[in-house]
Amino acid sequence: MVKSKEKEEEKNKSSNQAIYITISEDNIEISEKKPDLENEKRYIVLDFQSGERKVFLITDEQLIIKKIREKMPEIFLEEKYEGMKEMLLFLTHEIKNPLFALTTRIISLDIDKEKMKPIKSLLDRVNSIFDNITIFIKGKTANLKKENVESIIEESIKEIEEIKDETFSYDFEIKREYRSDKIFIKGDRFLLKRAFLNIIMNSAESLEKSKNKVIEVKTYDEGNFIKCEFSDTGCGIPENIKQKIFIPFFTTKTKGMGLGMSTVKKIIELHNGKIDVESEEGKGTKVTILLPSYE
Ligand SMILES: Nc1ncnc2c1ncn2[C@@H]1O[C@H](COP(=O)(O)OP(=O)(O)O)[C@@H](O)[C@H]1O
Ligand SMILES: [Mg+2]
Repeated sequence: MVKSKEKEEEKNKSSNQAIYITISEDNIEISEKKPDLENEKRYIVLDFQSGERKVFLITDEQLIIKKIREKMPEIFLEEKYEGMKEMLLFLTHEIKNPLFALTTRIISLDIDKEKMKPIKSLLDRVNSIFDNITIFIKGKTANLKKENVESIIEESIKEIEEIKDETFSYDFEIKREYRSDKIFIKGDRFLLKRAFLNIIMNSAESLEKSKNKVIEVKTYDEGNFIKCEFSDTGCGIPENIKQKIFIPFFTTKTKGMGLGMSTVKKIIELHNGKIDVESEEGKGTKVTILLPSYE
C-alpha cells in the first residue's frame, strides 16, 4: 500500500520535472537533469511550459554566431532580396536539421508522450514553415511518379488531425468524398502533401469565427485530370485580397508567414496542373486543383 503510494508520488514528481534539450554542433541531448555546461555564458536558454512540465531549450550561442559570420560577407554582397533569400535558406538549413533530429527523438521518447504533444506540434509547425521556404525560394524539381492521390490527401488530413487539439482552440470536421474513378496521378508525394497541408491549414485557420466549422475534400474525374476540391465554411476572402493571395509573403494573419499559397501555386505548376480559388466573404472558400492523371 505504502509502496504503491510512493510509486505514485515518484510518478507525479517525474511528470512535473523539467526537461532539458541541448542542441550542439553535431548532437542533441535530451535529459531530465540540468546538463553540465562548460561555460554557461556561451549558451542561449529558451524556456517554455509544456503542460505541467518546464522545457529548456539550450543552444550554443558561439556556434550560431560562428555560422552567421561564415555566411555574412556573401549576404552583404548580394542584392537586398537575394540577401534575404540567402539568409532564409541558411537559417532553414541550420535550424531544420537539428529540428528534424529533435522531432524524431521526441517521438521515440517513452516518457510522457501526452505531455510531449504540444512540443511535437510546435516542431511540426516550424518544420512546415521551413519546408515552404525551401520549396518556394530554392525551388525544387518535382520527382513525378505514379502516385495514389487519395492516399496523399489522407496522409495530409491525418497529419492535421494529429496536431489539431494542440494548434486550434476550436474543433472542426474534415469530410471527404472520393468520386473519381481514377486515383493515380503523375505526382511528387512530398510536394503534393505539402501543398494539401498548406490548403487545409488555411481552411482550418479560416474557421475560427464560423458557426459551422467544416472542411470538405472531394475528388472528381475531369478528362485527363483528377480534380481535387478543398472547401471550407470559413471567413472567406474579400475580393480585393483574392488577387494577392499568391504573392509571396502576403498575409492577413498576425502570425502568418504568407508563403503557403505561393508555395502551393509553385507545386501545382511543377505538376503541370491548374489551381483556382473561389471565395465568398463570410461564407467560405473553395480551392480547386487539377492534376494530370496517370495513364
Ligand atoms: N481558405 C481560406 N480562407 C480564408 N482566407 C484564406 C484562405 N486561404 C488563404 N487565405 C488568405 O490568403 C492569405 C495568404 O495565405 P498563405 O499564403 O497560406 O499565408 P498565411 O496562411 O501565412 O497567411 C491568408 O493570409 C488569407 O488572407
Ligand atoms: Mg497559410
